[in-house]
Amino acid sequence: MTSRETRHLDTRHLGRSILLFDEVRSTNDLAASMAHDADFGGMVFVAGHQSQGRGQYGRLWQARPGASLLMSVLLFPPPELRRPAILTAWAAVGVAEAIADLADAPVHIKWPNDLLVSGRKICGILIEQSGAVVIGIGLNLNQTAEEFAANGLLEATSLGIVLGKAPDPAPVLEAVVHRLDEWYDRLLWGDLVTLQSAWKQRLGLLGRPVRVDLADGTTRFGRLRDMTFYGVELETGGYTADTIRPELIRGRCRSIGIRPSPRTGRRGGTDREVRGRARGFFWLFPQTLR
Ligand code: BTN
Repeated sequence: MTSRETRHLDTRHLGRSILLFDEVRSTNDLAASMAHDADFGGMVFVAGHQSQGRGQYGRLWQARPGASLLMSVLLFPPPELRRPAILTAWAAVGVAEAIADLADAPVHIKWPNDLLVSGRKICGILIEQSGAVVIGIGLNLNQTAEEFAANGLLEATSLGIVLGKAPDPAPVLEAVVHRLDEWYDRLLWGDLVTLQSAWKQRLGLLGRPVRVDLADGTTRFGRLRDMTFYGVELETGGYTADTIRPELIRGRCRSIGIRPSPRTGRRGGTDREVRGRARGFFWLFPQTLR
């Protein structure tokens, strides 16, 4: 398949070649088809439209032609960076920073890598890995609130809605690639700590009561005491801590509202007590890295 246009950015790792297509099946598929050769590492694939765009859980990802930035990056990270928690945080933080700069608005990460502005989803990220890693990004650009409503997407927003006018896609693409490139460079230098702290801040869940569904079908409840790339630390029953490897979180991981205990007035307690007093929640999607 031949691209409509090729661009080159003056970056270190990503986007030195950007191939633009009018229509493809899926930019993730396109990137994966180049995974046989590490020389293609860092290449970015962009499409105006996808006939079979893929979302999380094998869902179809649909966008009107030209409405979203649809892009995938092909990468061959060194083994120490090939961890879902690290790559997920890297992609989410990089894209979130680009959007925050462009929109001049706070951007939050919903576990593991949906990006929200004012509580509404503006961008979805799908990371797939075989021999190489493919990072697929779908960033809403010029959809209107009416368009989302007509499609039953009441919880979605676009950069155009936030800015009050449809953005020019070229600078958005550049901003996203530059941010991802900067963070990737830090990771290659071994600086995981800075990314970890940026990730934690944008998740904004520290200190909140959470429910975590694990791959083995069990569920844990507790107050989120800390989270790193190596463990999600839950405080259960006030003093004890339960540390879960992020990769074991497979089902939904939710932040939950907890009523204060009628007995003690406190919001904590044992797993069982907390569960009994849980009320409304919003959920955070499971890891999609395969
Ligand atoms: C999600 O479900 O939130 C993730 C959506 C990811 C969609 C992007 S669009 C570009 C890339 N190509 C795909 O087929 N999917 C990703």
